[in-house]
Amino acid sequence: MLRIVKKIVPLAVRTKLKWLGYAAQDVLQGPTAPRVPPRRNTFIGGGDFISVGDNFFNTLKRHGLTPDMDVLDVGCGQGRMARPLIGFFNSGRYRGFDIVRSGISWCQREYAGLDKFEFIHADVFNQRYNESGTVAASDYKFPFPDNSFDRVFLTSVFTHMFANDVENYLAEISRVLRPDGKALITWFLLDEVSRQSSHPVLNFKYDLDPVSQTTVKSNPEAAIAFDLDYVTSLYEKCGLAITKIEQGQWARPDSPYSLQDLVIANLK
Ligand SMILES: C[S@@+](CC[C@H](N)C(=O)[O-])C[C@H]1O[C@@H](n2cnc3c(N)ncnc32)[C@H](O)[C@@H]1O
Repeated sequence: MLRIVKKIVPLAVRTKLKWLGYAAQDVLQGPTAPRVPPRRNTFIGGGDFISVGDNFFNTLKRHGLTPDMDVLDVGCGQGRMARPLIGFFNSGRYRGFDIVRSGISWCQREYAGLDKFEFIHADVFNQRYNESGTVAASDYKFPFPDNSFDRVFLTSVFTHMFANDVENYLAEISRVLRPDGKALITWFLLDEVSRQSSHPVLNFKYDLDPVSQTTVKSNPEAAIAFDLDYVTSLYEKCGLAITKIEQGQWARPDSPYSLQDLVIANLK
């Protein structure tokens, strides 16, 4: 059915209709909670904004996050993972950067006066999120000195980036992590089980290169999955040791974890 609608109704019309649906929902539901964007202006995907953030906050705590740690949220979007951290820090701080200027401006306004939080715009190109970006992700240097963070996390970001971009970002993550720090990164990992997955939307059938596949040929950054062996060797190359992989529900519906695969690593 979805496939037929997609064939008949042009993308621009579908996008407008979706927006109108969300706008109607916003009117019916009234104002959102503080630091929660209205549905019509949300560009970071579906799901409940508050519970997705709260769940990831629990994951961070499960992996040792304490109030004295400095954290970096790469691809922070509209602050979904920042919101639960309000009131959490003692000496620790949160920094987030993203390539969508409107999202960063919105976060800067919403978090004004919360001095533990800083949001930075990076004008990095991405066909889906920042078509006018001037810097290639494969060249981007994170705007922080070496050894700056106890935790670096990315939720649903490498799932929208190409292999050579991911390679640079993982090297940057390794550079800005403190010696006893941890990186928590979500992926779609392709292994013998997930390759057989029958997820209705996350159907990675188009090869991008020998190590990655996408769901949408015309807009590959919509969703990208990577070969597990490639990811493992990339961590190794960047001086990171994988300590745990929490396999996600996208390919394993019975998983107790969240939708995407989560890779936890520290410096070697
Ligand atoms: C699905 S959203 C997830 C946002 C946020 N991490 C969250 O979970 O709420 C993907 C985000 O990745 C960001 N992104 C894509 N390419 C990026 C890049 N090269 N550097 C930083 N952020 C990027 C997008 O702008 C977008 O905000």
